[in-house]
Amino acid sequence: MPFTIAIDGPAASGKGTIARAMARHFGFSHLDTGLLYRAVGALGGDPIVAARGLQPADLERDDLRSAEAGQAASRVAAIPEVRAALVDFQRRFARSEPGAVLDGRDIGTVICPEAEVKLYVTASDQVRAGRRALELGADVAQILTELRERDARDAARDVAPMRPADDAIMLDTSDLTIEQALTQAIAHAERVRA
Ligand code: DC
Repeated sequence: MPFTIAIDGPAASGKGTIARAMARHFGFSHLDTGLLYRAVGALGGDPIVAARGLQPADLERDDLRSAEAGQAASRVAAIPEVRAALVDFQRRFARSEPGAVLDGRDIGTVICPEAEVKLYVTASDQVRAGRRALELGADVAQILTELRERDARDAARDVAPMRPADDAIMLDTSDLTIEQALTQAIAHAERVRA
């Protein structure tokens, strides 16, 4: 049976870095589910049509990492039909052999409620904005405003809002190095797998 690791949390919490590294560690496939919503937002036009017709090549666009693409993703992600159109692909991916790591906002709650490992990765607003500003070479204050706006929208929507699953392990990375956060995350998954 494939082994699924579900990682959720707000923007720039470190979940993507942890997800990639865990996938490498275990030899699993990795899906950054935020990219699906970013691609739908970036395609423009009717987001429901874009989500239903999404192609792998749409995830390769260079402009998906920007703050604007993040905001557009957050807006289209609140549309129930957009989310519904992306469920099957994510669930199929979660069954990759020998295992899969998916990161996003609703993986442990909606996409993979049966995941063997669930992590909810957080960090303080200030720390997250600092990291993202460094990454994008942008102004911290502006990024902070943008992150708060996006998190508020992602947590307040009616369908699949961002929240920890009841059985998720919480991992606050505010005062941790990447190495430390990763060590804790891997140790937890190793215990479950044993
Ligand atoms: O992880 P990210 O910052 O790339 O995600 C961009 C937006 O996509 C995020 O603000 C909300 C949405 N999203 C979602 O609703 N559900 C997911 N599983 C992943 C992302």
